[in-house]
Amino acid sequence: MTDAAKRVQEYAAHSFHTWSRQKGWKAPLLVNDAEGIYFYDHTGKAYIDFSSQLMCSNLGHKNKAVIEAIVKQAEKLPYIVPSFANEATMAAVEALRTVMPEGLDRFFFSTSGTEANEAAVKMVRQACAPAYKVISRYKSYHGSTAASISLTGDPRRWYAEQARVTVPGVCFAPDSYCYRCPFGLAYPQCGVQCAAYLDYMIREEGNVAAVIVEPIVGTNGRLIPPPEYYPMLRRICDANRVLLVADEVMSGWFRTGTAFAMEHWGVVPDFITTAKGASAAYTPVAVTATSQKVAEFFEEEVFCHGHTYAFHPLSAAAIPAAVGELKKLMASGLPQRVAAHLKRRLYELSERHLSVGDVRGIGHFWALELVKDRRSREPFDVKADKFSAKALMTGRVAAEAMRRGVYISPWYDTLVIAPPLIITEAQVDEALAALEAALEIADREAVDSGAPACHSTEYPAPPTG
Ligand SMILES: Cc1ncc(COP(=O)(O)O)c(C=O)c1O
Repeated sequence: MTDAAKRVQEYAAHSFHTWSRQKGWKAPLLVNDAEGIYFYDHTGKAYIDFSSQLMCSNLGHKNKAVIEAIVKQAEKLPYIVPSFANEATMAAVEALRTVMPEGLDRFFFSTSGTEANEAAVKMVRQACAPAYKVISRYKSYHGSTAASISLTGDPRRWYAEQARVTVPGVCFAPDSYCYRCPFGLAYPQCGVQCAAYLDYMIREEGNVAAVIVEPIVGTNGRLIPPPEYYPMLRRICDANRVLLVADEVMSGWFRTGTAFAMEHWGVVPDFITTAKGASAAYTPVAVTATSQKVAEFFEEEVFCHGHTYAFHPLSAAAIPAAVGELKKLMASGLPQRVAAHLKRRLYELSERHLSVGDVRGIGHFWALELVKDRRSREPFDVKADKFSAKALMTGRVAAEAMRRGVYISPWYDTLVIAPPLIITEAQVDEALAALEAALEIADREAVDSGAPACHSTEYPAPPTG
């Protein structure tokens, strides 16, 4: 065994692997370098980062402008208590005000998406008391701490519940998931029941303070609701005096083509929570952005929240640099061109692979949902399989892609196609070639029922008249 391999084993033996039973974590890949869309293991093997790590490295790796901003801040003022102003946090607030939707212009800085949501829940519950309930959706992830995991619909919440660390007052609404509509309906005849039901739910439930949504669901499927969904939800929230929280931790920062995904519907929420792309993952930083109305509430009320590392200058220093680089990149036209290419290529790929049931997404944010049978839509694996001992099909395909030099993050039913926004058409093609070869593993276990792949986020026009 090499020295490096021994140290990796020691490392694994003395650290906790996230979201996993520990006994399976013996020899994680040792990554030594990363540049552009690639990262490199200790042998020098290159991997295309086709999921932007955890859908956060939106600018790819080793962006000079962001690194320089962090280094300069580290040399000047790496830390100061949050109650002082400093150039880094001031510049970060200025940068945020250039990208946030109009009206969302009061910010709290923390260091993770989890904390951004935790802060939002506390603010919601203070501002809306005695109403305290928050409606979330099953297909969601909002973070790992008590309130944020309670808001989470995916199987990670089940373990937190068993550990009795979840908080009361969270209800789950049906998802807007057209490929497997929870109402068994089809758009547009459905009348967007998934939105309409929220009105019923809020009125029947009582004491509802807020609805939290990932505008385009991230880890749990790149689910894009029909065009009417968010305008309806905004009206429902307003009519019931309920706040709307948009968790843009993953969907923000131009991943879907706009600064924030909610812009696709022209809807302004009462809160945006975000992290990941805010620094393009160069520093841990997160933002809870609120409307003036929420901000005004705290003029007289105590905002009873904070952390030692709230408004951390080193974290904040990456924000203006990342915003600048992202704006430059979007102005170049490259991400828009590549997004169109990626969509076309993914749709073509779905024609060649029996196991691809649905291809859905937008921008640089796509899902391939794998199924055994396109007609019945029978999945290979379900939610309850996620933490079982079973080798999930998505995991097997992702492992083969990795062997072929392409990193793709798998969930229990989908593969996450979310490359950095700097990727070129040729690099997309290179990654897709490896993915196509890997998909043969799933194709071999799929049946040919003659049904085509679905492109469930290509919504037909709503009925007129
Ligand atoms: C939509 C969403 N919200 C919240 C979080 C939690 O963010 P973090 O992992 O930075 O705590 C994530 C993480 O993936 C996320 O995707």
